[in-house]
Amino acid sequence: MGQEKRIKKSYKICVIGCGHVGLVTAACLSELGHKVFGVDSDKEKIKNLNRLKIPFYEPQLEELVKKNFKKGRLKFTASISGAVKDSEVIFIAVGTPSNPDGSPDLTAIEKVSCQIAYNLNSYKLIVEKSTVPVQTGIKVKETILRFRKNKAFFDVASNPEFLREGSAVYDFFYPSRIVIGVESKKAEKILKEIYAPLKTKIIVTDINTAEIIKHASNSFLATKISFINAISRICDLTGADVKKVSEAMGLDPRIGKDFLNAGVGWGGSCFPKDLEAFIYIAKKLGYDFNLLKEVKRINQEQRIYFVEKIKEHLWILKDKKISILGLSFKPNTDDLREAPSIEIINYLLEEKAKVVAYDPQAIGEAKKVFKGKKIKFAQNIYEAAKSSDCLCFLTEWDEFKNIDFKKIRKLMHLPLIADGRNMFERKDLEKLGFIYIGVGR
Ligand code: UGA
Repeated sequence: MGQEKRIKKSYKICVIGCGHVGLVTAACLSELGHKVFGVDSDKEKIKNLNRLKIPFYEPQLEELVKKNFKKGRLKFTASISGAVKDSEVIFIAVGTPSNPDGSPDLTAIEKVSCQIAYNLNSYKLIVEKSTVPVQTGIKVKETILRFRKNKAFFDVASNPEFLREGSAVYDFFYPSRIVIGVESKKAEKILKEIYAPLKTKIIVTDINTAEIIKHASNSFLATKISFINAISRICDLTGADVKKVSEAMGLDPRIGKDFLNAGVGWGGSCFPKDLEAFIYIAKKLGYDFNLLKEVKRINQEQRIYFVEKIKEHLWILKDKKISILGLSFKPNTDDLREAPSIEIINYLLEEKAKVVAYDPQAIGEAKKVFKGKKIKFAQNIYEAAKSSDCLCFLTEWDEFKNIDFKKIRKLMHLPLIADGRNMFERKDLEKLGFIYIGVGR
């Protein structure tokens, strides 16, 4: 990895919450040379981490955890009080899931704020890392002021993360920007020192602005994807090619080429939850964010539309064997949260199709998600394709790019390819005798 960089000052840091964001942050901060405690209330998780068992798949994370654990710079504990007392800086990285009405559930943030207050034995900088609604920082501060046991000073800051699952470690070390929302020069200095080895622009703002930057960034990215998915529908209606449209649009530097891949839409633990939360908060503040409601609607419709396209070719789905390749919400992760595959598979099962699925990493998670459902899992692509009526690509794993389509053609019952991520070229597959369904092309 070779990420070890020189820091001016090594801070004692505790990261509360060892989920995706928290664990990556803890491991990467320790790699920078800080002394880090990863804290989680889940004792089983901590026990496993202390045995160097990582709870999810994220490239490079395991080696980073092992290396820094062995060097003694990264420790794991279930005792929040000890870790808080021993730390100068506390990152809050606990979950903020959605309530049924779309509002973010901030119970864990409040609980942690109280625990920090009870254990405030000296000056501490408390940093929000979790994605939270604007004005949460103020609430964290009020809570700590209300419950702190002694009059030790503290600062609250917002330092939203922009890590992508599947490339989170890389994103930490090569960030496009670091945003710090602070109320004091001291907090600004500490955060700048913590991140000193990372060469990127640091944007210093107030706390509310930093919180909005996070929600606005994720919402904008989701909007970009839904926009191109809407364009893909028009392309389908006119015989145009959405891939060419994105390519040409993306060359305009004001637009940019990223996040313009049409397909079965966005999922994951961030966009769906963050959009819901932003719509909810905006409404609470007096603004009806209809644009984001439409972004969500386009995304949901895209999945059903994709199944409808398959149905056009297969006519009746009942008893047809449909092979799903790719279950995770994106490549290089085993995360299935809000993955398009879930909705699409459920839809196929409702129509009584025979579903067999393969994913390079996510089968373990998928078995939990689809527990009790009539779905089979294959060991590899070719086993999944055997006697299939449709090979359906839902995640663009690298492994799928090198498929031996000649072999696949012989294995399939009906040579139908439904490419939900526009990974392949129609003419190449048609040459091999396949029927090709893309999205917007
Ligand atoms: C997203 C943001 O990209 C990160 O910056 C942010 O830190 C993170 O949320 C978070 O809030 O924690 P992530 O959810 O890991 O990261 O995944 P993305 O790479 O953003 O992809 C999200 C979804 O959009 C995936 O389902 C992906 O397949 C889909 N997508 C992406 C498309 O359908 N088309 C595209 O062109 C790009």
